[in-house]
Formats: sequence, C-alpha cells, structure tokens
Amino acid sequence: MPNQPKRGVTKRVTAPDLIAMKRAGRKISMLTAYDYPLASLVDGAGVDAILVGDSMSMVVQGRQTTLSVTLDEIIYHAEMVERAVARALVIVDMPFPTNHLGVHNAIAAAGRILKESRAQAVKLEGGVEQAEVIAGLSSAGVPVMAHVGLRPQNVHRMGGYKVQRDEDHILQDAQAAEEAGAFGIVLECIPAPLAAKLTKTLSIPTIGIGAGPECDGQVLVLHDLLGIVPGPAPRFVKAYAQLGQDIQAAIQRYCQEVRDGEFPGPAHSYK
Ligand code: KIV
Repeated sequence: MPNQPKRGVTKRVTAPDLIAMKRAGRKISMLTAYDYPLASLVDGAGVDAILVGDSMSMVVQGRQTTLSVTLDEIIYHAEMVERAVARALVIVDMPFPTNHLGVHNAIAAAGRILKESRAQAVKLEGGVEQAEVIAGLSSAGVPVMAHVGLRPQNVHRMGGYKVQRDEDHILQDAQAAEEAGAFGIVLECIPAPLAAKLTKTLSIPTIGIGAGPECDGQVLVLHDLLGIVPGPAPRFVKAYAQLGQDIQAAIQRYCQEVRDGEFPGPAHSYK
C-alpha cells in the first residue's frame, strides 16, 4: 500500500477538534470511504473526517437508494475503514431506520457501530424530529453529526433528490440539532445563501454538499470525486479525476495482452 497507517504516532482528529476548526476559521475537509485501500489513501491525503456513508448503497452496492443498507453492512465497511485510518475522524451513518425506533434502540445501534467498528462518531438524518435521539446519543457519549436539507433516506417522501428550499423548516431543523447536542451538521442541497446564514448562526460546524462555499467544511462522495460512478453527476459534484475511464482502459489493455500472448512476458515469469 502507498500509505501504511502509523497507529499511535499520529494524533487522531476528534469531534471537538472540528468545532475548534470552525472557531479558528479553518475549513474542514470530509470525504466518504467504504473500504481499507481507499480509506488509507484518503486518510494519507490529509482529509479531516471520513464518512462511512450509506451512499455505499448506491456507489458500492449498485442500488437506487440508500434505504436498503443494514446495520451489519455499515459496521462491516466501517471496520475496514477504521483499520486503515491513522488521523481522520471516522463518522458512520446510522442506516435507515435505526434512528427512528426510539432513543433506546438508537443507542443500541450506535453502540454496536462504535464498539464493533471502533469508529468515533455517527451521523443521522434529521433535525427537529430527531432532537430527542441526538440528545440521548450525546448523553450516552456518542458524538452525533446531524444531516438536514436533502435527506436521501426521505427520498420517497420528498419525491426525489431535489434542492430543498423551505428556509424556516431547515433553520428549525439545524437549530434543534445544535441544541440537542450535535457536534456538527451536514447541509445537503440547499441554496448557498441559506447555508451561509446557517453557518453564521450556528456554533457547530456546517459541512456542505451542494450548499455553496460559505459552509465551514465540504463533503463529497469519494466515487463522485474520483469519477468512478457512470452516468451524469449532480451539479454540486466536481470530479477531480476520471478513474472509471482509466480503470477500464487498463483492464482492456490487460485483456488484449492476454489474448495476444503478450502477458505474462519474461519480466512476470519465474525461471
Ligand atoms: O451517505 C453519504 O455519503 C452522505 C453524504 C452525501 C453526506 O450522507
């Protein structure tokens, strides 16, 4: 591996560190990862926080929504990610509907995530109606990142993946999440001026995805950033590479060389 984790040498980023970064005016970088090799590269590149997102349902499992991810599946992926990471804070999505079954069950689910994967925080979608759960998890010692605006687990209720413009509702959700004890909040697909207003109002860091440049930090789905996902990407995605094309070209070359008898040559054979 290009980057070998240096356990015990590097200081891990913590949830309070992200709040301190907001206060210091230092932008927070966050990316998703779902497995050991990519988490190792993401961490080695210096990202502050890694989200084991339920977006894995779409970019790893090939499903249409995030709804089918199970608690066992997310723990399986989070454990691989955490094993690779030396510095970043590892945050794990609470899969649908683990945070909607009462505070007791939410603590049980988050407890399994932290104990079995060794990740340090969870993220859940919701604001006002999740305030009790956020407070319960926080008082149990679980750092919680909230997620408001476009909430992919609500795709059927919202009628698709659309920009969310109900300013009052989003402001109330964000305020409720902060008051309940969330240490940070993802703002997904909301107008940039609203995200800027929230970032000024809240004392916890805002992490934007499709929420403009004024947030305290940004998050992207790694497979979108790397250009691995086929098909058109949402407007807020910036692909920094086209690895999908590169990977396919490499595989095509391999197939051709096998067919032509060029691979393996002497350099890849034993005497
Ligand atoms: O699951 C995920 O990747 C997310 C990000 C889009 C924030 O929730």
